[in-house]
Amino acid sequence: MAAKRVIVTGGSGKAGHWIVKHFVEAGFDVINVDVRRPSVPQCRTVVADLTQLGQVVSAFSPHASGNRAPYDGVVHLAAIPRAHENPNDEIYRLNTLSTYNVLEACGLLGIKKAIIASSESSYGICFANKFFEPHYLPVDEAHPQLPEDTYGLSKVVNEVTAAMFHRRDGTQILSFRIGNVVCPEDYAGLKARLDHPEDRLRILWSYIDSRDLASACRLAIEKDGLGCEPVNVVSDDTSSNLPTAELIKKFLPRVKTLKRPLADRQSLVSNARLKALLGWQQEHFYPF
Ligand SMILES: NC(=O)c1ccc[n+]([C@@H]2O[C@H](COP(=O)([O-])OP(=O)(O)OC[C@H]3O[C@@H](n4cnc5c(N)ncnc54)[C@H](O)[C@@H]3O)[C@@H](O)[C@H]2O)c1
Repeated sequence: MAAKRVIVTGGSGKAGHWIVKHFVEAGFDVINVDVRRPSVPQCRTVVADLTQLGQVVSAFSPHASGNRAPYDGVVHLAAIPRAHENPNDEIYRLNTLSTYNVLEACGLLGIKKAIIASSESSYGICFANKFFEPHYLPVDEAHPQLPEDTYGLSKVVNEVTAAMFHRRDGTQILSFRIGNVVCPEDYAGLKARLDHPEDRLRILWSYIDSRDLASACRLAIEKDGLGCEPVNVVSDDTSSNLPTAELIKKFLPRVKTLKRPLADRQSLVSNARLKALLGWQQEHFYPF
């Protein structure tokens, strides 16, 4: 049987490196579409600017490669990945237009499955002008998205864009609301800051190991019939060594609604839907 074919956008970036690696090791035929080449090449890279629809269609077309078989899916990561380090209009333009073009190209070329990188920042707490507490815990996908920043807004807009393309073309699209991506080389730096739990309050101490994010991406491309949904992609545990109850008492005292008890170091952001939809299991835990 021919290998499944997948396109990873932003495969030259931080998360992209691990996601490309995982798909290649799982036997997929992978192409990376990015404006820049990766420092460590793992597959063929097509250099393209995703804000240009013509370039996206050409890069995603099977005619762009020797292999004419259509692609099975796209993992769309390319973006400006945070607020406040670029002009706001550029964050909005690049993040929303690239996602629009990626999903438009899927419809035009008959690519049936996509994952788009949304963010837990879309809940708005991370980059809010003034810190606010979640309406309830754990934060699940029904929690209101209340961004006060353009990065979070771009992710909310992209989720609405995904719903339109799902209605129009039937594309299966999961919007992964990704927690803080932690690569193996990041753990030492994080461990050195364990005495400063306030550092990670605004991300509710969530994290996702880049290798576990990659397995979630593969499962979503392998599965059929998932429709169009937002899904939190976070670990089972927090990135703090303190018990979750202590974090809530000290840093989130006004949160009155606990939808379920959070024992030990259980995450304040729910990954229940990720597990139910994909059968995903965490393999890489915060190493204390
Ligand atoms: N890193 C995190 O903690 C985190 C958390 C939540 C969500 N996300 C989302 O995950 C995705 C990947 O994040 P990352 O940390 O790997 O970011 P990154 O900046 O390391 O990688 C992004 C890649 O996108 C490429 N890119 C940017 N503009 C492009 C364009 N116009 N055309 C083609 N390629 C373009 C860049 O060259 C880069 O290689 C982003 O969508 C980000 O918003 C990241």
